[in-house]
Amino acid sequence: MCGIVGYIGNNSAKEIIIDGLKKLEYRGYDSAGIALNCNESIEIRKCRGRISNLEAATADKEFDGSVGIGHTRWATHGSPTDENAHPHASMDGSIAVVHNGIIENYTELKEWLTKEYGVVFRSATDTEVIAHLINIYYDGDLLDAVYRAVDKMRGAYAIGVVCSHEPDKLIAVRKDSPLIAGIGDGCNFIASDIPALLKHVRQIYLIENNETVVLTRDRVQIYNQDRKEVKRDVFHVTWDAASAEKEGYEHFMLKEIYEQPKAIEETLNRRLSPDGEICLDGIRLTKQDIEAFTKVYIVACGTAYHAGLIGKYVIEKFARIPVEVDVASEFRYREPFVDDKTLFIAISQSGETLDTLAALREAKARGARVLSVVNVVGSSVARESDDVFYTWAGPEIAVASTKAYTTQLICMYLLALYMGSEKGCLEPELRDELVAGLSELPDKLKSVLRRDSEIQEIARQLYMKTQTFFIGRGTDSAVSYEGSLKLKEISYINSFAVAAGELKHGTIALIDEGTPVVALATQSRLFEKMLSNIEEVKARGAFVVGVAQENCRRLEEQADRTIFIPDCRDEFTPILAVAPLQLFAYHVARLRGCDIDKPKNLAKSVTVE
Ligand code: F6R
Repeated sequence: MCGIVGYIGNNSAKEIIIDGLKKLEYRGYDSAGIALNCNESIEIRKCRGRISNLEAATADKEFDGSVGIGHTRWATHGSPTDENAHPHASMDGSIAVVHNGIIENYTELKEWLTKEYGVVFRSATDTEVIAHLINIYYDGDLLDAVYRAVDKMRGAYAIGVVCSHEPDKLIAVRKDSPLIAGIGDGCNFIASDIPALLKHVRQIYLIENNETVVLTRDRVQIYNQDRKEVKRDVFHVTWDAASAEKEGYEHFMLKEIYEQPKAIEETLNRRLSPDGEICLDGIRLTKQDIEAFTKVYIVACGTAYHAGLIGKYVIEKFARIPVEVDVASEFRYREPFVDDKTLFIAISQSGETLDTLAALREAKARGARVLSVVNVVGSSVARESDDVFYTWAGPEIAVASTKAYTTQLICMYLLALYMGSEKGCLEPELRDELVAGLSELPDKLKSVLRRDSEIQEIARQLYMKTQTFFIGRGTDSAVSYEGSLKLKEISYINSFAVAAGELKHGTIALIDEGTPVVALATQSRLFEKMLSNIEEVKARGAFVVGVAQENCRRLEEQADRTIFIPDCRDEFTPILAVAPLQLFAYHVARLRGCDIDKPKNLAKSVTVE
């Protein structure tokens, strides 16, 4: 989704901003722009398309200055054109604004500004109203004008503002959209995400909701809604810039698929003591708490929702608590049965997904205890939760989520085993066996990844197909959803996942000669049933790619191609079975020439409804 970078210092703001915007490309965007305070007037350059277009448009020496704001836009209001790209300026050109999020009452504000102040709008965006609002309130004090403008605005936003009358100042505001301030030496920064600033600073302030931050070259001051200055601890970023680089892989997605064994090992190491105890340090889940929960609600979007589906299986199985799983955009508009006896689990890689955040707030308002499973430290979901279970996957740059998903699964397993043990419904012997099984997963996953060339071969056979089906039973049906989502989002092939037992209730009508069907048959208990489902689709001409545990060689007799994963407990196969599906999607998309890390129409962090 949109990205913001701002700089105030003594060096070329243009270069620093463009470099920062490049680091945010992974969020998805369709246009980009920069406003610089050049010789006490604001100069704006912006254009549709990639940042390389912006680089060309800003290459001249005249466009220079040491204070500026930049933006990558992902269109919401108004199509992706040069005019609609950010920054947007006031009519006299003295104020320029970049904005992430949505101004919900912009139509109303636009009418008011037009009628009362004769404002002529130059774009179809909601953002432009912000520049005009600040301008009409400007009376020699930019901070005051920003406060008064924000007072009029409804919605979710992070904004960055520069003003030609106050050339040594940069102001930013946050409401429900991520914003950080970077603390440099004789220079300061704003950004919507940490990777944008890592080359320059490691000391940052996490700006909270309804806070305004004023940056000069030497100071960063944070103010609350009542205009009172607030003190904030400095957050030190520990991960290095290299972990946000490709390191020789052709795409971030491939790098992140290969990082999974290390990522899940890290997640496990943080929570398992050397003698195999599960330590949920920092998470307040006492035996009494767990016994008092009458239900668990897991809410998330997309891939994180698919992790929640597995969470349901394992929490119900090992902790014997009923679990509901819902997509956040549905949950928030229902009348869910959530109360103070509910454990609400929000799962989110970015921790900034607006629907998940809104669902979390809804659950909190209904009295639920909120535990989030989040990757990005200090993100909004993390900050608004009662407790946070970090996934520790490291930065995930590719839009398609991979290592965040597998680490979310590990968190679900650990949580289920912990709750089951505390409640006393999981025997210590079985718990030890399960913990040992978890610890073996990184190595087993490495051996699945070594089968990459086999999977590449299958991708070569199928990449020209126009549709693909994924089927499975039990946890395999949840993994099918994830495999199907991966394929469609990066290769644009129409793919569809269905619980295998549901096939004959409709979907089987779509199976024809040569239709690819990826059949997950990793559940020992359901293996025979899956063989029957494979028979059903084969009888209609399907080309079946089967996935099973090594010990289920019978699959070879029925499937056209097979991918075997190492034997393990059935509960843990999702971790191993999803990897071939991620690689399959990756290779298909690559063969089709798709923009794998930045698929069309998608954004890494979905901060709009
Ligand atoms: C798909 C994908 C999305 C996200 C979803 C939620 O590969 O990445 O479906 O899983 O947008 O995002 P987070 O986890 O950041 O809340």
